[in-house]
Amino acid sequence: MGFPQPAFYMFKCEFQAPPGFPKPSCVNAQNQDIFNHLSGKLMEKGLMATVLPIRTSCLNRCQLGPVMLIEPGHFMYVGLTKEKIDEIIEKHIIAGTPIEEYLIDKEFWDEPMSAKDAMRMAGVQA
Ligand code: FES
Repeated sequence: MGFPQPAFYMFKCEFQAPPGFPKPSCVNAQNQDIFNHLSGKLMEKGLMATVLPIRTSCLNRCQLGPVMLIEPGHFMYVGLTKEKIDEIIEKHIIAGTPIEEYLIDKEFWDEPMSAKDAMRMAGVQA
């Protein structure tokens, strides 16, 4: 058997806006240990061989933070807390059932646009 690829990637937004920044960001003094909590929980559950937690920069849904994208499937979780992280690991990762009520509203997470449509919108020739 080869070296297995991860079954899940958990992209946690770790962007922290500098003081005075005009928009909110996902990390502040009160919630800055969420990522460590996530990693610790995955370790405790023995999941590190198949779940890759990743610190990422802004995922462009700053008003709804803290946010985390789980792949595969484009599952965008918003308004995260440590308790929600624990539940997401139990239900989404281990049991295979995403938690609808913690996911972003469809209004802010519509179907993806094709590369060609994005280029057309940007006025770039395909
Ligand atoms: S700062 Fe987290 S989505 Fe923008």
